[in-house]
Amino acid sequence: MKTVHKILLLSMGIPLFASGTDPVRITMNTDSAGPVISRHIYGHFSEHLGRCIYGGLWVGEDSDIPNLRGFRKDVLDALKEIAVPNLRWPGGCFADTYHWMDGIGPREQRPEIVNVHWGGVTEDNSFGTHEFMDFCEELGCEPVFCGNLGSGTVREMAEWIEYLTSDASSPMTRLREANGRKEPWKVTYWGIGNESWGCGGNMQPEFYSHLLKQYAQYCRDMGGSRLYRIACGAPGSNYHWTDVLMREWAQVQGGGHRHYMQGLSLHHYTICHDWSRKGPAVDFDEEDWYRTITRTYEMETLVTKHDSIMNIYDPEKRVGLVVDEWGNWHDVEPGTNPGFLFQQNTLRDALVAGINLNIFNNHADRVVMANIAQVVNVLQAVVLTQENEMVKTPTWYVFRLYLPHHDATLIPIRIQSPEFDCEGTGMNAPYVTASASRNTEGVVHLSLTNADLKNSREIQCDLEGWKASRVSGEIITADRMNAYNEFGEKEDVVIRPFDGAKIRDGKLRVTLPAKSVVMLALK
Ligand code: AHR
Repeated sequence: MKTVHKILLLSMGIPLFASGTDPVRITMNTDSAGPVISRHIYGHFSEHLGRCIYGGLWVGEDSDIPNLRGFRKDVLDALKEIAVPNLRWPGGCFADTYHWMDGIGPREQRPEIVNVHWGGVTEDNSFGTHEFMDFCEELGCEPVFCGNLGSGTVREMAEWIEYLTSDASSPMTRLREANGRKEPWKVTYWGIGNESWGCGGNMQPEFYSHLLKQYAQYCRDMGGSRLYRIACGAPGSNYHWTDVLMREWAQVQGGGHRHYMQGLSLHHYTICHDWSRKGPAVDFDEEDWYRTITRTYEMETLVTKHDSIMNIYDPEKRVGLVVDEWGNWHDVEPGTNPGFLFQQNTLRDALVAGINLNIFNNHADRVVMANIAQVVNVLQAVVLTQENEMVKTPTWYVFRLYLPHHDATLIPIRIQSPEFDCEGTGMNAPYVTASASRNTEGVVHLSLTNADLKNSREIQCDLEGWKASRVSGEIITADRMNAYNEFGEKEDVVIRPFDGAKIRDGKLRVTLPAKSVVMLALK
């Protein structure tokens, strides 16, 4: 691994390159009234996959595991602590095989199906629409539905919306009432298909955009709900997909149609090597660490480029970018079902979370929502369960650390950080990333990540005339790069106080420890 003498200047997502070396310099544009960082950037994703729903969120009322109406209490409490703003459901690839009527009515009468995407296991549909809405209400978060466009029908999707949201008297609302819910629910976020370019139907963007127009037409606003329709967006760097969808959006606007999309999704997973050999979650080496960081940093390029295409058609940024699947995808833990995508979660995952969230914050003018995959027991989970035990992962601690950014006003920053060159990949990334916001009490929060495994980084931060007199901080780090929180043991990777930041001569000076995620509060 070698450090290249290049400095990355990043300003509101516009990378510029200049020559230079240490230290890291940050300039905060404290005068600017940036966009609000939507709390929905801190959203989560739950799929009928492995032990995410069954064993993760839901154990059923008869379980010995402490539960509230069938929901695991420990998981519910852990999710409440990080103020989960929204939860996407029922997939993922599963969504385009899901027929919602299988999941309503008396549980013992619900049909069984085979979960064809994830392990071929039998799905008994005991967690369905009412359980999901009950869970969201209990958690205090907004539901994000993903409707079945791949193998469903327009009528099926339209009736699901009617069942959930209509306040009229109709067969659907009478069915809802017969199943125990008289009042309509309020639903805002509605995905129309998932990965329609892949597991959701292998479509070309032109074909999908025509179907989207048809489906969206029947995704009507009913009762007190005003739908925010999320179209299936691009896989990673498929910019053509975004171009087609946005071109159609512009035409629809011109034609006076209201229903098409309000949000466009983007999926990007961090995969250390490749799909056939992703790399282990825990027993990785230093090269894997840096590969993972550079692959994570690709998110900056993806968001910037998709945004610039969207700007051609939508300079006012009326269509939001919804990164509704992101996170690390490692090899499954040895001995576990390959279809269940269960992986451990180390300090490296904490860095990946911190970097991605900094990127989303800095693009808050376009990124309106993001959902880490997935909430429990699958991929980069914030909590893991094992029978009646639960651990909070290092990723959970990052979501806890970044709470002050929820709905705060973005402070645009310029950052100059030395980069590392990830040999053999042709990729490089900055050691340090950052994002800043101001809350309604005027407190400024600065989140920082340092991916350098060996060296702390000196940071000089110019507050551009804003006078701060006090700074306090918190940190997530560990002695080992692959430290993780083990079931039944005291958690190792947690939030600890940090005193490496000072205000001197009106400037903020930070000694940012190696392999760390830090949050500073300035008053
Ligand atoms: O999160 C796991 C899977 O990854 C989802 O089902 C799918 O949308 C994506 O390919």
